[in-house]
Amino acid sequence: MNHFDYRDGVLHAEDVPLPVIADAVGTPVYVYSTATFRRHAQVFREALAGAGRVHLAYAIKANPNLAVLRVLAEEGYGADVVSAGEMMRALAGGIAAKDIVFSGVGKTRDELTRALDAGIGQFNLELEEEGEVLAALAHARGQTAPAVLRVNPDVDAGTHAKISTGRKENKFGVPIDQAPAMFDRLSKHAGLNLRGVAIHIGSQLSDLAPLEAAYARVGELVADLRAAGHTISHVDLGGGLGVPYRPDDVLPSPADYGAMVARATRGWDVELMFEPGRVIAGNAGVLLTKVVWVKPGVVNPYVIVDAAMNDLMRPAMYDAYHDFVAVRPSGARMTANIAGPVCETGDTFAMGRDIDVVASDDLGVFRTAGAYGATMASMYNSRALVPEVLVDGDRFAVVADRIQPETIMAAERVPEWLTR
Ligand code: LLP
Repeated sequence: MNHFDYRDGVLHAEDVPLPVIADAVGTPVYVYSTATFRRHAQVFREALAGAGRVHLAYAIKANPNLAVLRVLAEEGYGADVVSAGEMMRALAGGIAAKDIVFSGVGKTRDELTRALDAGIGQFNLELEEEGEVLAALAHARGQTAPAVLRVNPDVDAGTHAKISTGRKENKFGVPIDQAPAMFDRLSKHAGLNLRGVAIHIGSQLSDLAPLEAAYARVGELVADLRAAGHTISHVDLGGGLGVPYRPDDVLPSPADYGAMVARATRGWDVELMFEPGRVIAGNAGVLLTKVVWVKPGVVNPYVIVDAAMNDLMRPAMYDAYHDFVAVRPSGARMTANIAGPVCETGDTFAMGRDIDVVASDDLGVFRTAGAYGATMASMYNSRALVPEVLVDGDRFAVVADRIQPETIMAAERVPEWLTR
C-alpha cells in the first residue's frame, strides 16, 4: 500500500498534486511519501511482533537520503550499512551508533577503524581474516568489537542472478559447513565478542521457501555452535523481502514473512536482527518525469521521457519492470515503448507496453522507485543528478538538490601541460 493516488483525475503524493512539484522543482525528480515510509516501517515491525526480541536495521543502501533516514530513525529503526559513507549518513540521519550494523564483503581497515571509533553496534564478518584484523584493531584500542559471522547457506533464492547472494558461488559469507571451525578460532580473539551468525540470501524475494530453508540451516548451525560451548545471543536474518512492481504481482506480505520467521526461529532464544531495505522504501517513492516527444516507431511509438537510465538504472541493469502511469490520464490507452534521452539502446524503460495515452509535455511517473532509485543514479551523458522531494501531508521539501554538471566540472582539473 502507498500514498500515491488519483484525486479529481490528478495523481497526488499524499495531499500534494504532482504537477505542483513538477512546476516547483522541474523534472525528472524522485518524490517520496513520508506516510508510506512510516506505514511500511510500522507494518514490518508489527509483522515480527510474534518473533520475540527483534532489532530492525534499515538497509540504507535502498534509499540513504538523510530526510528518509530521519523518518526511519523516528520510527525506531537502526541501520544496516555497507561503507563508511553509509555509516556517516546513518549517524547524520539521527540513528544511534549502537543501532548500526556494518555488513559488506570489502570493509577496509580504515573503515573498520572508523566504525570502532564510532562505536557501532555490530560488525557482520564476511571472512576469517576480516575477523582477525578487526580483533587486532579493537584489542589495540582497548575495545571489544561485537560481531557475528555471515554464513552462506547455499540456497537458490530464486531471484535475478545479479541480486542473489546466498549461493555458494556468490562472494558473500563463509561456507556454512566451515563456519563452526572458523567460529572456534575467531572466538578465541580477545578483541572480538563473536556473539552470533548472519545471513542474507538475496533481494526481491518472491517466495518464502528458500528463506525458510536458509533459516532452518542457520537454526542447525546455532545448535551446533552452542553444543560446542559458544554463547549465541544474536542472529541476523538479513533483508530481501520483495515488493510488487507489476499491478498484478502477488508477493508474500510482511505478515506472511513474520509468521514464517516465528515458525522457523521458535526456541532459538536470541535477539533476531533484520535488514529490510526494499520492503520499506520501494513503494514509498516514484520517479516523476515529463514526456519530451512521442516519436513514431516502426512497430510502436517511442515515448521519450526526460528521465533516463542514469536516473533509474534498474530496467537497464536487471530488466526490471517499473509501472508507468500518466499524472493526468484521459482514460485512453496506447501501446508504446518508453525510453530516455541517453545515447544507449539500453536506455529503455519498457517495450510494447500498454500505457495511458501521453503526449509531449505530459507528466508521468515510474512507480515503485523509492528503493534503489536515486541512490543508484549517475550523471552519465553529463546529465544533472536527479533531485529528491519528500512529501508529508500537504507540504513538501526538496531533500536533495539537482546537482548540475558545472558542480562536477568544478572538481575536475586540466593539468598545466595541457593548458600551455
Ligand atoms: N542486507 C544485506 C547484507 C544486503 O546485501 C542487502 C541488499 C539488504 C540487506 C537489503 O535487501 P532488500 O531488503 O532491499 O532486498 N540494486 C538492486 C538490489 C541490490 C540489493 C543488495 N543487497 C536492485 O535494484 O534490485
